[in-house]
Amino acid sequence: MYRHCQSLHFCLPRKNKDGELMRKTNKPRTILLCPGPVLLSKTVRRAVGSANMGHREADFSAVLEESTELLRPIVGADDTYEVALITGSGTAANETVLSSLGSRGPVLIISNGEFGERLFAVATLHNADVDHLQFAWQTPIDLDAVSAALESRQYSMVAVVHHETSTGMLNPVAAIAALAHANGAIVSVDAISSIGAEEIRAREWGIDVLVGASGKALSAMPGVGILVVRSELLDTLTARSGAGHYLDLYNHFYYMRNFTQTPNTPAVHVFISLHASLREITALGVERFQETIRQRALYTRRQVARMGLTYAAYDGATSNVITCIELPEHLTFSQLTRAFKRKGIVIYNGKGALKDRIFQVGHIGALRPTDTAYAVRQLRKMLRDPALAVAGPVFGEQAAVHGVA
Ligand SMILES: Cc1ncc(COP(=O)(O)O)c(C=O)c1O
Repeated sequence: MYRHCQSLHFCLPRKNKDGELMRKTNKPRTILLCPGPVLLSKTVRRAVGSANMGHREADFSAVLEESTELLRPIVGADDTYEVALITGSGTAANETVLSSLGSRGPVLIISNGEFGERLFAVATLHNADVDHLQFAWQTPIDLDAVSAALESRQYSMVAVVHHETSTGMLNPVAAIAALAHANGAIVSVDAISSIGAEEIRAREWGIDVLVGASGKALSAMPGVGILVVRSELLDTLTARSGAGHYLDLYNHFYYMRNFTQTPNTPAVHVFISLHASLREITALGVERFQETIRQRALYTRRQVARMGLTYAAYDGATSNVITCIELPEHLTFSQLTRAFKRKGIVIYNGKGALKDRIFQVGHIGALRPTDTAYAVRQLRKMLRDPALAVAGPVFGEQAAVHGVA
């Protein structure tokens, strides 16, 4: 009888033939399972929608101030650290550090994947004296080799990635920091994809500089880089100690310290999204927030193993942010991503040597409780679908992703 009531019928949730909830456009809701950008919660979207404020107003300074305070417990930084937020993706924050602190003497970059290698590439743009201690992808960082490198010469700075997103491996940053300090070097850690999802204890682990980003596990819009730096290190900086103007670390902290502002026009709406998300995470509790991500990862891995697929697991060092799953022999990434896309799900290809060998399923962002189970169900169906393997690639699909996240 409801069918005769036009207005009520319009309000009823519509389902497609697979029983999935549909939008009025007949498109399934998009579920981002990539390691950023991620889905935003309703609260965050609402906050962004009503974020009309000038960046030189007290309101914006209050947003900045509270955001930096809310970030501290998430990264284990006490009042011996200061926090600044920079408009730009995570790479902007990394380059700010590498151009400013990484140009003051010999630098050692330790890498075991795409993002560590990128730290090296950026560091060499700002300093001719950069050494690269490079390990194979998916290989743990050998602390004896780190120790030997640090003893071989006096480095001023060591930089390393915490969660190597290209492989899903967590690196032993506390141990690396201890070795660096024992040899008189400071340590900068790229925690761009781990901040929010993984336990980070900057003070306890002896991290001098921690770099993060808004649009990954912190569940906000991408576009704000996070800089957490020891105050005593900031005190050693002088005006224009960086190689550039916009990415000058001194300048960003000068504006934070003196005016609680940013030097240039910030991406106000993105800052608001980060602020709203940090409030949500804090209200829930950081540990509970991280546990939710971990449970998604564990569930996905259990189910994937049941399907007979192999995923990357590292002894005590597998991140909760993503699961890197080997492609089954009968499917290409193109075929799989197209099938997922038809179900409204976005997954990413592997990078570098892992490209077209693995696919990445993310566990971060404002996923609904049913999203991960839905994606797993779809994957199971795809594996059994004989029609899938004969489908051709889609033009332009993932073209922007390969090697340039
Ligand atoms: C560990 C790590 N470092 C750096 C980056 C680059 O960050 P962005 O793309 O925000 O510049 C990423 C992106 O995924 C990352 O995961």
